[in-house]
Amino acid sequence: MKILQTSNYEEMSRKAANILAAQVTLFPQSVLGLATGATPLGIYRELLRRYKTGELDFSGVRSVNLDEYCGLSAGDPNSYREYMRKNLFSHINIRPENVHIPDGMAADAQAECRRYDELISALGGIDLQLLGLGMTGHIGFNEPNDSFDRHTHKVRLSERTIAANARQFRSIDEVPRTAFTMGIGAIMQAKRILLVVSGRHKAAILKEALFGPVTPRVPASILQFHPDVTVVADEEALSLSAGLWNGQKGEGL
Ligand code: GLP
Repeated sequence: MKILQTSNYEEMSRKAANILAAQVTLFPQSVLGLATGATPLGIYRELLRRYKTGELDFSGVRSVNLDEYCGLSAGDPNSYREYMRKNLFSHINIRPENVHIPDGMAADAQAECRRYDELISALGGIDLQLLGLGMTGHIGFNEPNDSFDRHTHKVRLSERTIAANARQFRSIDEVPRTAFTMGIGAIMQAKRILLVVSGRHKAAILKEALFGPVTPRVPASILQFHPDVTVVADEEALSLSAGLWNGQKGEGL
């Protein structure tokens, strides 16, 4: 695991965008696993800026998103499909048919989960998976549990996650209680993983994820077993991890 510490959120976004940009430049047909939440917004801004200057071309890229709320239609302003459209896809030249997100309105949850896993397999798996870190230690919406869920599944969101995500909604009552999420299996099979973390409020859970025991109680801890993980995190997020790693600052990226 490589840990790159940055001074702040903007630098984290730029360095993480460098890694995604290098992937797309070297492998224009890449399958990118994409994430939502507040953390990747700066990365997406940077990627679309580079697209606009002609530095990046997404015409061959395929994308699979990690998760989607259940019960929100595609056009709902709080759906992750809408988040992706608004913050990235509508600004770049990725082909609509190459964009994949679980269908939060699917009537048959089991069939939707199966479809999503088959789709990821048919694409040949994920080349580079971008991940944020939830306050519960979740990745995607894989919440703390007694075991790791290998496959895409429908999950009941924890009270902590519902409260954390309420800021995107008008009221906490509007936050969906369930979601579809890619399983730990597809995430761990990604060839490369890029975990981005920002802010002091994430410092304790980041320390547990990176340096604590590997346990489904902290789902992100499984990343310790992945052979190619890069963590790009700012000083605040790494403030409780000082001394636990060899202090690489990520210069040159
Ligand atoms: C959300 C998403 C995750 C995301 C996490 C952190 O619930 N499902 O994919 O990584 O929460 O979000 P944020 O970046 O806003 O802290």
